[in-house]
Amino acid sequence: MSANHAVRRRTVAVPLTRALVTVLAAVGAVVGGIGAPSAQAGPVGSRLPDPTPWATLPVPGPATVRSGGTSGPSVGVLRRPAGDPAWLAQASDPASVLVVVNKRRPLSPESYVPADLDGSSGVLLRADASEAFERLAAAAEAAGVPVRARSGYRSYQDQVVTWQRWQRTLGDVVAESQSARPGYSEHQTGLALDVLPRDGACQDFGCFGDTPQAAWLAENAAQFGFVVRYQEGQEAVTGYTAEPWHLRYVGPSAAAALAASGAHSIEDYLGLPPAPTY
Ligand code: DAL
Ligand code: ZN
Repeated sequence: MSANHAVRRRTVAVPLTRALVTVLAAVGAVVGGIGAPSAQAGPVGSRLPDPTPWATLPVPGPATVRSGGTSGPSVGVLRRPAGDPAWLAQASDPASVLVVVNKRRPLSPESYVPADLDGSSGVLLRADASEAFERLAAAAEAAGVPVRARSGYRSYQDQVVTWQRWQRTLGDVVAESQSARPGYSEHQTGLALDVLPRDGACQDFGCFGDTPQAAWLAENAAQFGFVVRYQEGQEAVTGYTAEPWHLRYVGPSAAAALAASGAHSIEDYLGLPPAPTY
């Protein structure tokens, strides 16, 4: 375990405790929609329709496998033309399940709060992401690798606190590689969550990458509409070191197409510019 990981154990977990869930759910009752129990939510896609345009992209067959490169089909055949207004609009819409948030793409408005946060998975997530995570967790348990949600939705102000703590603890340079500045975190979309093993010896992010849970997620998360957002070796594209615990909901079709494409980041899949820095 690296020194960074050791520090991270104490600092990364921005607690979205049950109490916070309760408070935010109460706030949501005022601002509208937040806290609706997932049992009342429709199936995945009922409110975040399995989206176009990613969902319409063709999944390539073996004929498109790259020669001489890393295994997997060419991502090029899956990319939308650069500048396509349909997907660019969704990638820029914080309420779209296809929103792309990175160091070059802040949330707009920066005060964005999702309208349909749901706390039934133990953390706040948008309703469809929450329902999908509950199904993922059930499947992981059945596979013998039970997981739990550690951190889901984080408001802009939550991220201010998180970011300041990281800066104090790690210094600017390391903090930048592990935590998003306020207004630049996927957690604010309500579509991202961090997971840990439900039980067992590893109960923090520093050891998570070595757990069977991490391997299972890398293999299976897409079936439930999630992407392991920050993969190993992608820092020059995503701006962050690997976070095998950070799942991003994009919907089942998009997740399947991205996984089949051989791309290792949403940016690579869509042909968006890398975002190594702000
Ligand atoms: N750890 C991820 C990058 C975040 O802070 O959103
Ligand atoms: Zn995360």
